Amino acid sequence: MIADLTGKTAIITGGGQGLGLGISTKMAGQGANIIVTDLDDRNKQVVNDLAKTAGVRACYIEMNVTDIEQVKSGIKEAFGFSETIDILVNNAGVSGTPGSTGTRWRDEDWEFTWKVNVKGLQSVTEQVLPHMLEREYGKIINISSVAARAAKYITAYYATTKMAVIAYTQALAREFGSKNINVNAIAPGRILTQFHKEWVENRKKEGDTTTNLFSEESLKQVMPLGRAQTPDDIGALATFLASEDAKNITGQTIQCDGGQVMV
Ligand SMILES: NC(=O)c1ccc[n+]([C@@H]2O[C@H](COP(=O)([O-])OP(=O)(O)OC[C@H]3O[C@@H](n4cnc5c(N)ncnc54)[C@H](O)[C@@H]3O)[C@@H](O)[C@H]2O)c1
Repeated sequence: MIADLTGKTAIITGGGQGLGLGISTKMAGQGANIIVTDLDDRNKQVVNDLAKTAGVRACYIEMNVTDIEQVKSGIKEAFGFSETIDILVNNAGVSGTPGSTGTRWRDEDWEFTWKVNVKGLQSVTEQVLPHMLEREYGKIINISSVAARAAKYITAYYATTKMAVIAYTQALAREFGSKNINVNAIAPGRILTQFHKEWVENRKKEGDTTTNLFSEESLKQVMPLGRAQTPDDIGALATFLASEDAKNITGQTIQCDGGQVMV
């Protein structure tokens, strides 16, 4: 089996919905025990059910990645569930404060986005990494965005954090490659999750009548493959990167964006 994760344990931040849930589902399907963390216990039952179907163990931990005490206790709880954490997926992410659309740049949007997308990611990584270094085994996958490579004016604060995720990925990969730690990033294109839907709804509330980001036509215009990605697509790539089949890949940012951006 390609991308076999049998017996491995993966922790997925912000895994209660959207891409994170897609990643959890795919990894469980390939045999990994999953630790899903999120702000609250949304979809705890869904996670338990998907693990049961896959025949793996699951654990759900409430953990806000911006709260260092919660991160410390959450990761401690994770190690109570499993003696080892083989895979860390830093997926939790936001674009501005709730309700923001990027049309106005406010300090609170820059700060909030940085706090979750970069500082939060760093905090979780620093709690898990020492354990991986001790075992000389680990796969870290950071969720960036195609926005990092095709930044638009209105998404500047979001794009900046997602480029920082790429830089952090490369720095870790270079630093810890000799310890058998693979660190890669995934840059998804447009995915019709809650994250994206809320953004479109907020744009409409602001009176943006041109926003028609859900139409097939708008997707075809930006993506040669003419379709949106799904959480499953991202889950498949994350699962591959977490597996031994990808053991010689590190420091890379791989786009899964229907060909939207080609670099
Ligand atoms: N949807 C897209 O089009 C798209 C495209 C590229 C990249 N991304 C990235 O993919 C990741 C997941 O996005 P999604 O579309 O599934 O979004 P989503 O809003 O559906 O899910 C994000 C999850 O992260 C959680 N979260 C937010 N802040 C958190 C915090 N402080 N601590 C812990 N959990 C927190 C949320 O509760 C939610 O469950 C994000 O990093 C996002 O930037 C999304």
